Parts: sequence; structure tokens; C-alpha cells
Amino acid sequence: MTTAGLKSTPGGALRGTVRAPGDKSISHRSMILGALATGTTTIEGLLEGDDVLATARAMQAFGARVEQEGVGRWRVEGKGGFAEPSDVVDCGNAGTGVRLIMGAAAGFAMCATFTGDSSLRGRPMGRVLDPLARMGATWLGRDKGRLPLTLKGGSLRGLVYTLPMASAQVKSAVLLAGLHAEGGVEVIEPEATRDHTERMLRAFGAEVIVEDKNNVRHVRLPEGQKLKGTHVQVPGDPSSAAFPLVAALIVPGSEVTVEGVMLNVLRTGLFTTLQEMGADLVISNVRVESGEEVGDITARHSQLKGVVVPPERAPAMIDEYPILAVAAAFADGPTVMRGIGEMRVKESDRIALTAAGLTACGVTVEEEPEGMTVVGTKGGNHPVRGGGKVITHGDHRIAMSHLILGMAAQEPVEIDEPGMIATSFPGFVSLMTGLGGSIVEA
Ligand code: S3P
Repeated sequence: MTTAGLKSTPGGALRGTVRAPGDKSISHRSMILGALATGTTTIEGLLEGDDVLATARAMQAFGARVEQEGVGRWRVEGKGGFAEPSDVVDCGNAGTGVRLIMGAAAGFAMCATFTGDSSLRGRPMGRVLDPLARMGATWLGRDKGRLPLTLKGGSLRGLVYTLPMASAQVKSAVLLAGLHAEGGVEVIEPEATRDHTERMLRAFGAEVIVEDKNNVRHVRLPEGQKLKGTHVQVPGDPSSAAFPLVAALIVPGSEVTVEGVMLNVLRTGLFTTLQEMGADLVISNVRVESGEEVGDITARHSQLKGVVVPPERAPAMIDEYPILAVAAAFADGPTVMRGIGEMRVKESDRIALTAAGLTACGVTVEEEPEGMTVVGTKGGNHPVRGGGKVITHGDHRIAMSHLILGMAAQEPVEIDEPGMIATSFPGFVSLMTGLGGSIVEA
């Protein structure tokens, strides 16, 4: 099947106030914890993107009752555990979905077979399977633990596990398996990663002990924790808010406010970096909703300057480097991004595709094995040309980033596979056109 691509064209200023869609990480977790818990979980503001809907279907396959009650309003009736699914569980495009669900499923004496779309089937699962196997789970899958694979769980041993890479998904898989492991689990993370699983486990009644030892986080889940259904208010996704905010920064005359953006410091590295680049980014109306700080963020068109992004900031903005690279293309001087090798194993090789997309749009990019430098065209005092036809390999963030670039460049930018945008930001095109952007079928 072929579908038309999308094209964004340069136009006037972007103006208006919008709401960020629900946070993807928290949406997945609310479904999974709701299904593991006993009793009713009600969710408000759920991201109804394809990834989260795949997780919702998976939770039904594992025995929970999952119902939509209104826009963003869902009810999950958990049975206090997982039952064996009668068919293959398809997690679509979602790395978070499949890795967290495998962790949760490992706690139960049953077999479950997982698959996903071609991107997910190419992504490494060994990072989750290794600790689960140490706990006693067994699995059979393709080379290097690629999907499809079958996991058999139950009778898990406890584990003290030091994360070999900064991955909240791996940490979360171990914690969820730890709910049913003798002796509980402890995850040691040399670099702090997003802590939504820890926060949500507590909201569902579990004891989670977090200690900082010499700047290293130790997250301990004692044996025998029971989860009880609760209410989850999903805050706005900073990773999605990034797109209209960066658009406002690079399109002259723009002013855009995104309301209700989660401000968890383990997620806001992009906003810090943009401020260091000279962005006029103002955060207001800061409040706490469901245990997470949220606020409204206003971005006004700004002349940005290139910066060196501290590598240790990478976990707090790992999904935002493609859109940061777009902002950097409009800056004065080079922006250096290092310590981002994890980008190569996301929905696509995001270093390679960002470099290729920007190069196709006339931007100079130097690619490194674990980094890239984007040379801002303002340094050479010429505008970004645009005009590229960008291959996204089905990666939603590569698609959205380049569509944003096209709104500020001299020539339109085209992307293939626009359908994938719905995995994380189903309303992206209408939200951007509502602000005055131009995105049409290519
Ligand atoms: C996520 C963690 C990150 C991130 C992903 C969502 C999560 O992945 O890239 O989009 O919800 O835990 P890693 O844990 O692999 O770094």
C-alpha cells in the first residue's frame, strides 16, 4: 500500500495556545500498572496514540478489562496479575510497551509471544531479556533477542542490577518483574533516567525506596508489593510539546503557548538546552498534578546560538535530539551533541536519519558514532534552504522534526510515511495548522 507523504511549506508566524497531548511514557505505564493491580484504575488525559492503544489491547490480552469512557478517559479493571494470552501479543511500534510488558509478564508462570512492526522487530530486546533471564525467566527468540520471541516466566529470583545503559525501559522492566520476585529487586542507575515507573508504583500503593549513593541512584522494590487500582491524571508530554515550541522559536514573528506540559527534571533537558541557546522560553503557572510538576510554556521567535550540549544531559532529552538538531540548524554557530549513541537504537537510527534529513535540506551536519554536530546556517549568515525529501523509516519524531524545519526554511520539506506520526502525536498536523503552519499532502 502506498500513502501520500506530507509537505510543510514556509509561511507566516505561528500564534496561539494549545494543549500538549498526554505523556506517552505515563500513558503506557498507567495501562500496565492498571492491569497488574487489583480493582479499578481510572485514567484521564491518556495519549490515544497508536503505541498506547497497542498497549491497551495487550493488557486485554493479558486478562484485564480495558474500556474507553470518553476522550482520553479510560477505565482498567485489573485482576491483580496477568493471565496467559491466547494469541501473539502485537505491540506495534512501541519499545516502551513491549519492554515494560515483558518485564511485567515475566512475573507469572505462563508463556507469552510478542511481536511488533518492522521497526520494533529490529530493535534490541536483549537489554531487557538479560536481567529477566538472571531472575529465572526463559525465552526463545530471533538472533540477539529480536522479536518475535516467546517468554516464559514465574518463580523469579530477586536481583540487584546495574543498568549497562541509561534506559528507563530496562529499569522499569526489572522493577515490574520484581513485583513477583523472591526478595524483591534493586536497580542501580549510574545515570538517572525518567522515574515515572517509581512514582506510579508508589501511587498504586507499592513501597519503592530510592537512595542516592555518591550520585548514583539505587531504586529498591522490596518483596511482596501489592498494587491497588487508583486514578491517574496524565500530564502533557514534553517530548510532543517540543515540536510547536521549537517551531515558534524558528519561525519569525511567532508566539506559541503550550499548556499543561510535564516539567519532571528527568524529561526537560531540551528546554534547558534551548534556554542556553538564547531561546525566549517562559514557564508559568507551575503546579503539581497527580504527583508530577506541570506548567505552561511560552516560546517566542528567538535568534539562537550554537552550544555544546553536556553529554550527561542525554537521558533527560534522548527523544528530543532530532528537534533540537532542527533548532540548531537555525542557530548561529555549531551545536555539538555527544553521548547519544542510544539514539541509534530508537524507532530508527536517529543520528543517521537526522543527519541525512538535515543534509538534504542544505544544513551541514557532522555525524559521529555516538554524536553529531549541526552547523547553524546563521553562522554563515544564510537561511536554511529546506527543499529536502526526507526518508523517515517510519519514525514519528524524524517525520515531525523535519515538517517543523519546513515551516521556517526557504523551500518546502517533504516526508514519507506520515501515518507513523499517530504513534505519539495523533493531532500533530491539525495542531500545527491551527497555529498557522502549513502542512499538506505531498
Ligand atoms: C521511555 C524511555 C526512553 C525513551 C522512550 C520512552 C520510557 O527509552 O526513549 O521514548 O517510557 O521509559 P530508553 O529507556 O530505551 O532510553
